[in-house]
Amino acid sequence: MAPKTLIFFALFSLLAIVALADTESTQSDSGLMLNFYKDTCPQAEDIIREQVGLLYKRHKNTAFSWLRNIFHDCAVESCDASLLLDSTRRSLSEKETDRSFGLRNFRYLETIKEALERECPGVVSCADILVLSGRDGIVALGGPYIPLKTGRRDGRKSRAEILEQYLPDHNESMSVVLERFKNMGIDTPGVVALLGSHSVGRTHCVKLVHRLYPAVDPVLDPGHVEHMLHKCPDAIPDPKAVQYVRNDRGTPMKLDNNYYRNILDNKGLLIVDHQLANDKRTKPFVKKMAKSQDYFFKHFGRAVTILTENNPLTGTQGEIRKQCNVANKHH
Ligand code: HEM
Ligand SMILES: *[C@@H]1O[C@H](CO)[C@@H](O)[C@H](O)[C@H]1NC(C)=O
Repeated sequence: MAPKTLIFFALFSLLAIVALADTESTQSDSGLMLNFYKDTCPQAEDIIREQVGLLYKRHKNTAFSWLRNIFHDCAVESCDASLLLDSTRRSLSEKETDRSFGLRNFRYLETIKEALERECPGVVSCADILVLSGRDGIVALGGPYIPLKTGRRDGRKSRAEILEQYLPDHNESMSVVLERFKNMGIDTPGVVALLGSHSVGRTHCVKLVHRLYPAVDPVLDPGHVEHMLHKCPDAIPDPKAVQYVRNDRGTPMKLDNNYYRNILDNKGLLIVDHQLANDKRTKPFVKKMAKSQDYFFKHFGRAVTILTENNPLTGTQGEIRKQCNVANKHH
């Protein structure tokens, strides 16, 4: 080859490498990218952050909901805001299934959506609002700031009928739990970190009375049993009475590593929480996270990123809903 052609090729491949590296840093295989709305709605992320902050001031528990929504939407096939759809004559909503028990504050998600619609109508998806409110909720609770990509679009169908194949039950075995998260690309320390979310919020008595009645689960810490019995005095709780136990009595409003110390002390409320601290695959990570908040946050940020990039709709797939609780009308 002539030296000139050689130089040309050398330059060309250099450019190609630079271009490739550049797209990789902004756009992942999923089709999502950082700051997707930078041209179409530059204020989008600020508006969400502001609304999450205002709502948090009025109702602290909104932040728990934004965090839990990430799991219940993204782990069921796709982060596509299918969780937010109301039931219709033809389909049951995910929200109304037993696994969704206790999910709350959906109307305040509409408050965030309305603020975005005022500024940039029809631009920001409910799926991105769900994920970013989760991200900002985590910060409000004292957790880490996690940079997350956007560009998700909204699904048109509820997945209530297959939800149980994806969301583990409160008493699921650790093998099933690990397997389901592994299918999304989340490894064992990632699962241990995500369950650290149970460091905030509450569990209703219906989800834990089987550990108290007819006989107390002998693995539970006796002091904690007393507290649980006090909060859940009936073997069959009245479904209308709001009876619950806080997930972390020590720091109930903080996303911190106290959860790991609780479960090591046999104060985990759910059977999965208890298993996490006792299964030989997960226990070593539980111990590390109990010792180091940094280690917990590092894996938490990593796992939340993977969870929120699970199989999104992008490009021209799906739609941008006008209202988060109903799919758009097509004529
Ligand atoms: C094996 C997996 C999991 C199971 C079986 C599970 C189950 C549950 C149950 C039964 C409750 C109590 C609901 C109630 O009674 O109101 C709960 C609460 C909660 N879960 Fe999970 N969960 C799991 C994983 C996760 C993950 C991965 C996250 C977040 C990324 C999460 C976030 C939350 C939050 C924040 C609450 C408190 C909600 C509130 O107070 O409103 N959970 N979970
Ligand atoms: C888990 O609990 C539910 C009730 O919430 C019960 O129907 C089911 O049989 C339990 N599963 C196992 C494996 O114990």
